[in-house]
Amino acid sequence: MLSVAVLASGRGTNLRALLEAEQGDRLGPASIEVVVSDQDDARALERARHFDVETMVLDPDGRDREAYDAELADALEDRDVDLVVLAGFMRILTSTFLSAFPQRVINIHPALLPSFRGTDAQHQALDAGVRVAGATTHFVTEEVDAGPIILQSAVPVRPDDDREQLSQRILATEHEILPASVRLFAEGRLSIEDGRVHIKGDVDIEGRIVPEVADDG
Ligand code: GRF
Repeated sequence: MLSVAVLASGRGTNLRALLEAEQGDRLGPASIEVVVSDQDDARALERARHFDVETMVLDPDGRDREAYDAELADALEDRDVDLVVLAGFMRILTSTFLSAFPQRVINIHPALLPSFRGTDAQHQALDAGVRVAGATTHFVTEEVDAGPIILQSAVPVRPDDDREQLSQRILATEHEILPASVRLFAEGRLSIEDGRVHIKGDVDIEGRIVPEVADDG
């Protein structure tokens, strides 16, 4: 089995999607062993407990970024973690952490990268007036939201969408591509060459591309 740590700072719906995928035998040979948060009141921690998964809180107070990342890496190495999944983890990881898990950290971002990196990608998409939005899973590098892309899902932007409506539509597809990406990794079907991810075999994800017209007109 491939041992997975999920890092989450907030409500944890992507974590829930992963836990449900594992329970439903849709995560391949991956097992979520620990959920780590930088916030002791993160809803994600409750969700982990509900599924009887170990939780850990690492409080950033009193630690600089390097010390935090070193401690986090040590904790995950102690648990023999093979893959780290960032599911709404609101900290930027330094090379101190990333060098301990080379090409073994996956993030989910609520935009079709490389568009709309950084915070509030859904708002950025609405501001830009794009007709199609979506989500991306990618390997994490030191440059924020810029690592090799694993999977993407597209959803229409409707003319009367507000941030919440668009976010919900994107979130539903996040819940598909994140477990699918973890499964591909666990099955050993991902490799990176020249900054691009190659996937062995077919990827079958319902709703990966939503062929819907984005405008009423
Ligand atoms: C998601 O939109 C994810 O793409 C972003 O943070 C949000 C986390 O949501 N990185 P949740 O905590 O999984 O519900």
